[in-house]
Amino acid sequence: MDTDYFQHKEICFASLIYSKERLQYLENEFEVRDDDVFLVSYPKSGTTWMIEILSLIRRSGDFTWCREVPNFMRIPWLDVSGIGEKLVDGCESPRFLASHLPIQCFPKSFFSSKAKIIYIARNPKDVLVSLYHFAHMSYVVKKPNGFDEFMEDFLQGRVPFGSWFEHLKGWMQMKDNKNFLFVTYEDLIQDHRGTIKKICTFLEKELEEQVIDLIVEHSTFSSMKNNSMSNNSLVPDYIIDPKNNHFMRKGIVGDWKNHFTQKQIDYMAVIYKEKMKDLDVKFSWDECV
Ligand code: A3P
Repeated sequence: MDTDYFQHKEICFASLIYSKERLQYLENEFEVRDDDVFLVSYPKSGTTWMIEILSLIRRSGDFTWCREVPNFMRIPWLDVSGIGEKLVDGCESPRFLASHLPIQCFPKSFFSSKAKIIYIARNPKDVLVSLYHFAHMSYVVKKPNGFDEFMEDFLQGRVPFGSWFEHLKGWMQMKDNKNFLFVTYEDLIQDHRGTIKKICTFLEKELEEQVIDLIVEHSTFSSMKNNSMSNNSLVPDYIIDPKNNHFMRKGIVGDWKNHFTQKQIDYMAVIYKEKMKDLDVKFSWDECV
């Protein structure tokens, strides 16, 4: 099956599960509620991991929900047309919704609401590697014609949801807003428990230490990999090829070292420096990009 993209506001979207109509509706008409919580990310930044953590926080550590209901039904995807729309419409308040939208496409009603956003980001080199592998197993990213060419597409934003740099820079405009929490994949790897506690504080959810222990235990890589409700194996096979589904692939920091040549490392460093020069924020990965 061929993967098609369409352009909306000069950004690529996969025609298979996104539509211009839905994107226009979301931006201009979708009504954000004050108690909504949005999980926003660029693809491959740890969204599925965060969906698991938020599901467990929402149910105060009761993991039966995560064992019985697929993740895309627990925290529906705002942006997806068709099934996504129905799941969002049927979601009870307080709604927890996931989105990959760049800030310029996000519902306008959010910006005058009290709703919260958790934005998760990851070292762009690991995002690129993860996306490269995902492209081989899914029908929403065009099949790569080698890593070098895919890297160029990624750096130029010719992949779904556009440029990683623009996505991050756009959302970082919100960084000082009290309803915006910025976390990274690397934070979660380095301090899983501490990051969960930080998220609980942001959501004003007081949970006992034993409950936090349960949330940590049920959101580890191995626990999620072994749970069909959380490892994306139930995503319809027209989106992810079930024969080739290694969505829970490695789950580590620094896999880029196994993929990049020295030439690619040097090239990415130049592009990163140039694209990030106008952003006055430090990231844990700055030194190794
Ligand atoms: P890798 O391909 O590097 O393994 P997203 O959900 O945004 O698409 O991100 C997918 C990436 O998050 C994949 O990275 C996946 O393995 C990783 N991931 C998912 N759950 C994780 C967990 N519990 N711990 C560590 N990494 C996880």
